[in-house]
Amino acid sequence: MILLKTKEEIEKIRISANLLSRTIAEVGRHIRPGVTTAYLDKIGDQFIRDNGGIPLCKGYEGFPSAFCMSVNDVVVHGIPGDIFIKEGDNLSVDCVVELNGFVSDSCYTFAVGEISEDLKRLHRVTKEALYIGIEQCKVGNRIGDIGHAVQQHCEKNGYSVVRELCGHGVGFKMHESPNVPNYGVRGTGPLLKEGMVIAVEPMVCMGSKNVKFSSEDGWTCRTKDGKPAAHFEHTIAITKEGPQILTSFEEIENI
Ligand code: MF3
Ligand code: CO
Repeated sequence: MILLKTKEEIEKIRISANLLSRTIAEVGRHIRPGVTTAYLDKIGDQFIRDNGGIPLCKGYEGFPSAFCMSVNDVVVHGIPGDIFIKEGDNLSVDCVVELNGFVSDSCYTFAVGEISEDLKRLHRVTKEALYIGIEQCKVGNRIGDIGHAVQQHCEKNGYSVVRELCGHGVGFKMHESPNVPNYGVRGTGPLLKEGMVIAVEPMVCMGSKNVKFSSEDGWTCRTKDGKPAAHFEHTIAITKEGPQILTSFEEIENI
């Protein structure tokens, strides 16, 4: 069942989203060659708690940390640890925050120091795909319109979209109905209604779309071809006035 949110509830999700965006920016300020992803996780975890929030990934189906930190060929669900990031790396920082009972979800893919032109292009196109998907988040459209727009933009640029994972409803819990795939057919899937809140999150591969999950930790999701992937995510409210982006990359991009 798709749970619709009232205007008041959307305002509360916006406050949660605001803390989440500030958290990812705080982590971003500590990203530099030579630090570990466990260190970055600790900084962000503390920031969330200091501001009255709960990092919801921690303990979710056994996930051990506050953030998913995915380096280079890790697409999503990288577990922070003794992993030293280095100049030229691709690092996605994904987090879910609960504040006063309301849940938001966002991800940003950072460049560690100077990165290659190829990686810059992957980041740019993935972020563009996110905003192109968000443009489709209008009352009366369907879920398939979002996926179609995301997929078209990525494939047109020579990239591929992951099939195994998708966006989702969010707001009262981390994962609600409906699923929001990053591929699809226009005019298909659930109808978008006023009061829906969804996480739109293109996961885009530079090479082929095939991924594998680690048999050791059960989480880490890598590209099969070893090429890099990027992931950007916003929490979106669907309103009569159009899509409202509740999370924000503004502070992150002004670091
Ligand atoms: N934040 C991710 C999402 O977009 C999922 C987190 S998985 C978890 O849904 F186990 F780490 F929580
Ligand atoms: Co999500």
